[in-house]
Amino acid sequence: MLEQHTIKLLIQKALEARQASYSPYSNYQVGAALLTSDGQIYTGCNIENAAYSPTNCAERTAFFKAVSEGKRDFEAIAVVGGPKDMEISQYAYPCGVCRQVMMEFCKPESFQIIVAKSTEEYEVRTLQEFLPEGFGAANLDCGK
Ligand code: THU
Repeated sequence: MLEQHTIKLLIQKALEARQASYSPYSNYQVGAALLTSDGQIYTGCNIENAAYSPTNCAERTAFFKAVSEGKRDFEAIAVVGGPKDMEISQYAYPCGVCRQVMMEFCKPESFQIIVAKSTEEYEVRTLQEFLPEGFGAANLDCGK
């Protein structure tokens, strides 16, 4: 289980990462902070595009940064999001595509997803809870 100070640190890092959000089309700013099994934190923000579909979510930005630097084992991710210049009043639950990317690299029963409004107000659930019966490498028997 994650310790409370780790949860709060991840939320703080996600809030900081959110400041770099490039979201001129939706004005919805998202930040994420991903904790590796060796204790490092990779952050990410959403990056939008005028052609819309190339948009990358904050969670995937964090995962792709980490994986591109050789990380493959992850413990938890914190996600914060909401409209620009407003207090965060709702949880930003990871979209389906991001849940599937998590499924590629994380154990569904143990990977922890923290959705937060602030360091004081948050929910913690496993990937299994967000993506029950997820499709993963094991289904392909590819020996990953
Ligand atoms: N977004 C994320 O960054 N993460 C999610 O899990 C949901 C959506 C971003 C994508 C887009 O830039 C904006 O939020 C509005 O959909």
